[in-house]
Amino acid sequence: MPVRPVDSDRIVTESDGVTVTRAAVSLGAEISGVDLTGPLPDEQFNAIDAALVEHEVIVFRDQNITSDHLTAFGRRFGELSVHPFAPMDEAAPEVIQFRNDENSAPYGTDNWHSDETFRTEPPMATVLCAKVVPALGGDTMFASMSAAFEGLSDRMQRFVSGLEAIHDILPFRPLFGSSERDRRELQRFELKYPLQVHPVVRIHPVSGRKVLFVNPVFTVRIKDMDENESRTLLDVLFRQAHVPEYQYRHRWAPHTLVMWDNRSAQHYAVHDYYPQRRYMERVTIRGGPVIGVDRADPKDVRRIKFEAPAGVDLYGGHKPHVVD
Ligand SMILES: [Fe+2]
Repeated sequence: MPVRPVDSDRIVTESDGVTVTRAAVSLGAEISGVDLTGPLPDEQFNAIDAALVEHEVIVFRDQNITSDHLTAFGRRFGELSVHPFAPMDEAAPEVIQFRNDENSAPYGTDNWHSDETFRTEPPMATVLCAKVVPALGGDTMFASMSAAFEGLSDRMQRFVSGLEAIHDILPFRPLFGSSERDRRELQRFELKYPLQVHPVVRIHPVSGRKVLFVNPVFTVRIKDMDENESRTLLDVLFRQAHVPEYQYRHRWAPHTLVMWDNRSAQHYAVHDYYPQRRYMERVTIRGGPVIGVDRADPKDVRRIKFEAPAGVDLYGGHKPHVVD
């Protein structure tokens, strides 16, 4: 399970007044020097956009912003999308409102996923802003799926490169009952959001990193594989998001905004705070086509090969003794 080597000289970087401080080894960075209540100069926007691609998850603290500010910030990155199933403000349908309290338990986000992979073109990024947070709990976990791909063995990288997987509106199906009206409504959604085929390993369109692009919320099957083979392989790949070395865990405070690159990171909303209150607002930025790797070139699959410097003991003194 290779882990990216830490470049300790590049933990804090600064450009155009935007300071980026890495928060974990595989992904995550805090951004400071930016005020999202005002207009964002182009140079600062470019620095933030670059940080998003590089660090996959970026965090802005102490941003007491309105829904309009959130929408305006999201629109700097592209057109916003409207979620077909999430609760929204009628006047501003791009803003999803997560209002969880003693009467409204959180729904269906306590599992690893990237957002809306049931779409032909899943979103490029999501922005979530905390308004009210529980005293304890309610963290969001993130996993770098580029690090997760790098962590696979060379043989597994070669095996999964070029495979395709089927994605579905699976978690939303229980929202429909068995009445005639509900069945017709579900059929309408199935026609609008048919099964999608996405590559198992996608190429990030900006960084060029290879990313493991299957998730247990929306991915139902590996295409052209036997059901048993598909289930077993998906279980192995899904477990890559569980590896702590690929994760960043975010603890929320009010007025914190977190943006994740949906093309390279997955997330998991920890449901341990009910019935405390939590109120968040979200906007989602449309993405482009998902481009995958064809067949793997054995010499090209791994982006980073970790080789210890001369004289460094890779086993940390734990190398097994060889008995003659
Ligand atoms: Fe999500």
